[in-house]
Amino acid sequence: MEKTETLQADAHYAKASPQMKNEIARRRTFAIVSHPDAGKTTLTEKLLLFGGAIQVAGAVKSNKIKKTATSDFMEIEKQRGISVATSVMGFEYQGRKINILDTPGHKDFAEDTYRTLTAVDSVIVVIDVAKGVEEQTRRLVEVCRMRKTPVIVFINKLDREGKDGFDLLDEIEQELGLRVRPLSWPIGMGQRFRGVYNLYEQNLVLFRPHGKQTEEDTVRIDDLSDGQLDAHVGTSLADTLREEVEIIEEVYPAFSREAYLEGELSPVFFGSAINNFGVRELLDCFVEIAPAPQPRQAEERVVHPHEPKFTGFVFKIHANIDPRHRDRIAFVRIVSGKFARNTNYYHVRQGRNLKFSNPTSFMAARKEVVDEAWPGDVVGLYDSGNFKIGDTLTEGEVLHFKGMPSFSPEIFRFVDNADPMKYKQFEKGLDQLMDEGVAQLFIKEDNGRKIIGVVGALQFDVIQYRLEHEYGARVRYEPVNLHKACWVTAEDEAALAEFVKRRHKDLARDKHGRLVYLAESPWMLKMAQENHPDIHFHFTSEL
Ligand code: G4P
Repeated sequence: MEKTETLQADAHYAKASPQMKNEIARRRTFAIVSHPDAGKTTLTEKLLLFGGAIQVAGAVKSNKIKKTATSDFMEIEKQRGISVATSVMGFEYQGRKINILDTPGHKDFAEDTYRTLTAVDSVIVVIDVAKGVEEQTRRLVEVCRMRKTPVIVFINKLDREGKDGFDLLDEIEQELGLRVRPLSWPIGMGQRFRGVYNLYEQNLVLFRPHGKQTEEDTVRIDDLSDGQLDAHVGTSLADTLREEVEIIEEVYPAFSREAYLEGELSPVFFGSAINNFGVRELLDCFVEIAPAPQPRQAEERVVHPHEPKFTGFVFKIHANIDPRHRDRIAFVRIVSGKFARNTNYYHVRQGRNLKFSNPTSFMAARKEVVDEAWPGDVVGLYDSGNFKIGDTLTEGEVLHFKGMPSFSPEIFRFVDNADPMKYKQFEKGLDQLMDEGVAQLFIKEDNGRKIIGVVGALQFDVIQYRLEHEYGARVRYEPVNLHKACWVTAEDEAALAEFVKRRHKDLARDKHGRLVYLAESPWMLKMAQENHPDIHFHFTSEL
């Protein structure tokens, strides 16, 4: 933060009521992300069990889009019904209010995940000990790094054979660009897994497969040379641990909460989510070090959580799966002030006031109507089509929160209305699905044809299915030979006009009327960039 911003933040803090200070200080809003199958769902579930938010394992699991569903959109449809409930999972733990924001694991829905990352204050990344850093982990952490989001790493599945701990740390540093500091360290692995040494609390936690670890499983060892260690894990493993801890202390920087909060140092934990092992250490440390709700950058200014007036933004829209009720839920992350039910709030893009009689909060995987909510919380607002992703709500001030990314899609099809009698339904359905951020629509400048661009091919099936079932409209897709769509801008208006003239047939407008260049091939893109040096080609855009 700049100095003036810090001063402003302090001023807002000084004026905030004790209740507001307390509510903000105790909130922890975060997401768990991973490459599919690393154990994100399992870890989420164990955290909810600790928080008493669910009683049995399996409750979150049922929300998962399984690998087998790659083209089975019926399955997705079924999941969508359940996933409203797990979009936000709030629970109380040690006096803190924890909000876990769910992200879809399937790579074709990666955009949803990126948008959810704008609504959290920190992230836990789960890595499979055998697989190490995988493709999706890389992409997700890149987004976190760009946004300086604090990251904690949980290395999972230590009950199986996997990579050496130090090799993994190297891999994380090199491939994810994170500076790391282990806060726990495994003793053995796979068959020989005996537990973890908690470097943060300096105690030994012994491993019992499939059991809930209890207080007796925790042995306090202030000095690793203590013979107790050998008695618990055997001399060979004890000696290895002593050597490895020595290396850790020499090689890795000491843990600094400040560096973590700046996104510059990532604590690493080891465990086995399915065995509920290492999870309590993770959660206890998380509630202590993870950031409370943070300020957010709007185009106009920085907005601080302790400001008296409510502000928030929509980061996700969820359509109702019941076609008879077309209303949707818009998920709003509260940035500042107190949100209250039945109060008029200003919808900045539409320039009018809206009131919400049934705002929903998500506690313990149940939906409940809430009377008030605080920064860091997410409320679900029933919406009949007023919201788009990225919309801002305030008490009257014109603010536009920044940072909601849309990515240049890479898979394209022409889309046409297949039933002339249902043109209106087709247009409306398509419009609403685009508002939800399911895909991006481009309208060609030369002939007005519509092109849908997606990040994952599964979205085409989703659009087709939903148009048919929710709107009674049919689509016809046609292949289109495109490599990439990117947004184009230029400071030099003459250069832009020249570009538009020469590339007319390759240009389109997005939903917001912004100019988009459609490149047929990497070569065409390269040529366009070389021939028009004054034009900026953007591969991500902020709404
Ligand atoms: P994801 O959300 O990141 O995609 O992963 P998920 O939690 O679904 O876990 C993927 C698989 O890894 C699951 O097995 C899960 O049981 C397993 N798993 C999670 N944590 C651990 C762990 O600590 N140790 C071991 N050995 N396995 C773990 P699955 O066979 O795909 O599903 P299921 O049939 O067990 O439900």
